[in-house]
Amino acid sequence: MSDILTPGTTLRSRYRIADLVGQGGMGAVYKAEDLRLEGRLCALKEVIPNLNASKAYQEQSQMAFQREATILARLDHPNLPKVSDFFTYHGRDYLVMDFVPGQDLREVIEQARYKNSLLPESEVLSWAEQLINALSYLHHQDPPVLHRDIKPSNIKLTPNGVIKLVDFGLVKLLQPDDSKTVTVLQGRATIQYAPLEQIGGDSEHTDARADIYALAATLYHLLTNESPPDAKTRYIRGKNQPPLNIRELNTTVSERTELAIFHGLGLHPEERPHNIDVFKRELFTKSAKRESDEFQLVAANNWRIVFWHNRLLLALIGFFLFLAIILTFS
Ligand SMILES: Nc1ncnc2c1ncn2[C@@H]1O[C@H](COP(=O)(O)OP(=O)(O)O)[C@@H](O)[C@H]1O
Ligand SMILES: [Mg+2]
Repeated sequence: MSDILTPGTTLRSRYRIADLVGQGGMGAVYKAEDLRLEGRLCALKEVIPNLNASKAYQEQSQMAFQREATILARLDHPNLPKVSDFFTYHGRDYLVMDFVPGQDLREVIEQARYKNSLLPESEVLSWAEQLINALSYLHHQDPPVLHRDIKPSNIKLTPNGVIKLVDFGLVKLLQPDDSKTVTVLQGRATIQYAPLEQIGGDSEHTDARADIYALAATLYHLLTNESPPDAKTRYIRGKNQPPLNIRELNTTVSERTELAIFHGLGLHPEERPHNIDVFKRELFTKSAKRESDEFQLVAANNWRIVFWHNRLLLALIGFFLFLAIILTFS
């Protein structure tokens, strides 16, 4: 992990390292010059193999990296950095993509906090729209591509106001087991943005609605300068869970935005919008879909309430039915 490439190092006679951009759990991200396409700057994302793992595991990881990199290289969307190449160099894997200039949204939030100000809703919504467009594009791939780690530090804001979602896919794939994923989640402090199903390490039940949760948590943080209470705490505290409050922390936010974000933060995937396009409508269309969703929720709850109130009667009917069957056939 400590072997950071020094500026001037050239990889594959093509990518000359200019700077270290960031360092995470799996390796570093570098800014580099593309010597073949003069003037093009790229970002090299490095993945260092886990040398303590078995040889078989390391081989599997590398195959997973190549599979994932191939999928990413096929994607093309204005709010995602274009992946152009991937290779292995001195035993480490590298993904090459466009270098995205600007700050990430965690830095933007920190600046707002420092100035004791709140980001305007209109600006946050313009970022939300771009993020939703990127997610809709990813989720409509066949098979769907999930991001799985949406959070302010994985979102870059370019100087001309364009949003780019970075850091998707690879990390999750490269974890040897679910318990490790949880450790990584907590270690990288993304727990505030992670839905319950990901905290539990239950990757089998992770679908597009996990990205909706993480996006809603990110929007909450952007609008209030506070991350929402994490899903695990909310779940454990049950009825006494800490309240979600956006409009108390930022009185300028509209009711529609608040309702849409609360819906996205549903603890159970079924309590969230069904897909990212529904979430978009709720966030941007006046009195859209949400009403029919609420109606469905009320209807479903009505049934539950009716069953619950009549549980003794139902048990009695069941018992007599059982008795009647026994008497008929005995
Ligand atoms: N294509 C890119 N262009 C510019 N900066 C990037 C790019 N990709 C990532 N970064 C920066 O590097 C940091 C770490 O990259 P990321 O992909 O999030 O890796 P990690 O898995 O370590 O979180 C990000 O927070 C972002 O600021
Ligand atoms: Mg990251």
